[in-house]
Amino acid sequence: MYIKVGGFNIEIEDYLDLQEPKKGIDAHNAQILKSRHQRDSKINTWGNITLCEKVLGESKCSVVEYFGGLGITTAALRDKFDIEMHTVVEIHPPLCRHLRDNFPDINVIEGDARKVAGKLGYHSLMLCDFPAFTILRLDDVDDIFSAELLRDDSPDYVVFTDSAWRWLSLNLKNYQNRGLPIYTKPDYIKVLSNMLYDRYGYSIKYAHTGIVCAYCLMVRGKVEVQINNIAGDDGSYNVHGKEYVSFCMEDGEK
Ligand SMILES: C[S@@+](CC[C@H](N)C(=O)[O-])C[C@H]1O[C@@H](n2cnc3c(N)ncnc32)[C@H](O)[C@@H]1O
Repeated sequence: MYIKVGGFNIEIEDYLDLQEPKKGIDAHNAQILKSRHQRDSKINTWGNITLCEKVLGESKCSVVEYFGGLGITTAALRDKFDIEMHTVVEIHPPLCRHLRDNFPDINVIEGDARKVAGKLGYHSLMLCDFPAFTILRLDDVDDIFSAELLRDDSPDYVVFTDSAWRWLSLNLKNYQNRGLPIYTKPDYIKVLSNMLYDRYGYSIKYAHTGIVCAYCLMVRGKVEVQINNIAGDDGSYNVHGKEYVSFCMEDGEK
């Protein structure tokens, strides 16, 4: 079976045959695939690609993508931008084979993002399509952010996915109880931005928020964040499956 994304036909037959591991990654990707497949005609409006458009422009760029998955984001990036060096990191071997088959000129690294981060040289853009990141999970991604952002040749732009959005209203008290001054949805992005600045010297410049996820673009230094709230049929991926939701959310955050 093929899905068409931008100028690419992505073959997914191998992927759908995967049996291992049975939980987590496969179920998660299957949900994403289903959702994105249904929406592939709207590929150009995904939040993370929209954010990249704000900064990448026409000139050549280099990209390191963590959490490559099925390569849907990869295909959209290839379709939109002139990328002279493109590295994709993915932990799941069959997905790495799938990425290599579909994108022979991309450097696909099979490995754990937390161990590979910081060893791949300079890229102007780092894109992290985290499987499950929220403001309470900064420690979980610290290996990646520290290795990439606290070094001399750190990326100019970082785009990442935050999965807290779907349940944010329900979690306001939970965040407040943990000492985070989050009373509105924009507060979430602002508090997250301040925390990222304190840790890594980067802050969020743009946030593109959908129903399930928020996409954030970080730059070096302290900047005022601009939030574009795209409620409704926005083209960002929107997975309603319960499995996905419980996979994304940690205990106590739902
Ligand atoms: C949200 S999906 C990525 C979707 C992908 N960006 C796309 O557009 O098709 C997350 C991916 O991260 C991978 N992954 C999970 N933990 C990882 C890790 N520690 N290191 C590298 N990849 C990981 C999973 O196998 C999964 O394919």
